[in-house]
Amino acid sequence: MDKLLISGGIRLDGEVRISGAKNAALPLLAATLLGETPVTLTNVPQLKDITTMIQILGNMGVSVVIDEKCQVEVNANTLTTAVAPYELVRTMRASIFVLGPLLARFGEATVSLPGGCAIGSRPVDQHLKALAALGADIQVENGYVHARTKGRLKGARFVFDMVTVGGTENLLMAATLAEGTTVIENAAREPEIINLAGLLSAMGAQISGAGTDTITVQGVKALQGCTYRVIADRIETGSYLAAAAVTGGRVKTLDTDPFLLDAVLLKFRDVGALVTTGPDWIELDMQGRRPLAVNFRTAPHPGFPTDMQAQFMAVSAVSEGTSTIIETIFENRYMHVPELNRLGAKIAVDGHTAIVSGVSELQAAPVMATDLRASMSLVIAALAAKGDTLVDRIYHIDRGYERVEEKLQSLGANIRRVTGREESQ
Ligand code: EPZ
Repeated sequence: MDKLLISGGIRLDGEVRISGAKNAALPLLAATLLGETPVTLTNVPQLKDITTMIQILGNMGVSVVIDEKCQVEVNANTLTTAVAPYELVRTMRASIFVLGPLLARFGEATVSLPGGCAIGSRPVDQHLKALAALGADIQVENGYVHARTKGRLKGARFVFDMVTVGGTENLLMAATLAEGTTVIENAAREPEIINLAGLLSAMGAQISGAGTDTITVQGVKALQGCTYRVIADRIETGSYLAAAAVTGGRVKTLDTDPFLLDAVLLKFRDVGALVTTGPDWIELDMQGRRPLAVNFRTAPHPGFPTDMQAQFMAVSAVSEGTSTIIETIFENRYMHVPELNRLGAKIAVDGHTAIVSGVSELQAAPVMATDLRASMSLVIAALAAKGDTLVDRIYHIDRGYERVEEKLQSLGANIRRVTGREESQ
């Protein structure tokens, strides 16, 4: 199993190109199922989760062509079976995104229920309720969701019990081909929703209100292919900025969008970083200073993203003073805390609250990644820690960070991948 070996204590300095967003590309790939003609997505990141979604499409008989510029062309007309099997779905929860488009376009779908997850129970009840509200017949049997509709789905008003990104995306995709008007209330407002609505509109869907908590969809009979770009990854952007902050360094992130991460940039300014932005770049310069402690709580967009909580906690770990962090989205998203404490951090957790007493220095130790963002928080902390840190189970990081060690090396970090083979020698 691959590991990352990091010799910390180097101040990062340089520029890094940000990839397309995993969490935007995944629903966009699912949405290609709705097109009567091929859809081409550009700026698709090369990641394990993207490969899984492409495998799910391929397994249904859908034709997927990937070129060397990370453009992915999907032709859903070759679909032979509307089934997403457990073997694939269990490796990635986002597989559930195919449910809405399959049902809307082909009238049926069989999708395995995603299994448990390290960061929380993460049920999909809201996805199923939303599709049922459009008239779908939904049965859950033997771990599979069987969804069916006689004729087209019927537009309806649906109020989500809680703000759910994936639930909003599934309903939005299904509603595009429904008969009549669908009104989605308490909709998620994440930039990834706006990106999805942008693709669907380019395919011919009639959508208004994406990016607000009420989205209205006027159903159409068919959608066509188009070429559409995946937005920049705001979480990857924030993660490299955190790596700059923790090492007292300077990093300029390129091909990104400052409007995607207002709440995070605000907190970086509060810790004392000099943050400057342009139309498609963000630079963070810590000017060799130690960050100051700040408090934050995670919240649905435009609040502070839960997907940045672990990485920002690594910054808090070396900050001057005590930070209070409250996680409000997932019930178990503090798995990185014991590992950060192994690196010398002083973090105590009580329920949803973490109290981080900043230390002036972290020390290297062997640590283990438990999920995607937790693994990046360990890498960030290791960049600041004295000595050589070995981060184990980094397959998690490969799900969401494209060429992470190459990108960090280009910023001056001393990091390398240790392959399973090297270890056994
Ligand atoms: C998306 O997950 C992201 N994944 C997550 O990113 C992110 O953490 C999350 O949104 C919150 O921003 C993708 O976009 C692929 P939710 P999603 O539905 O859609 C509860 C990462 O690190 N809920 O907004 O699954 C749920 O348990 C990942 O890249 C229900 O109870 O998240 C959670 O507590 C991890 N029933 C809350 O809502 C449902 O039917 C928000 O989840 C759906 C959700």
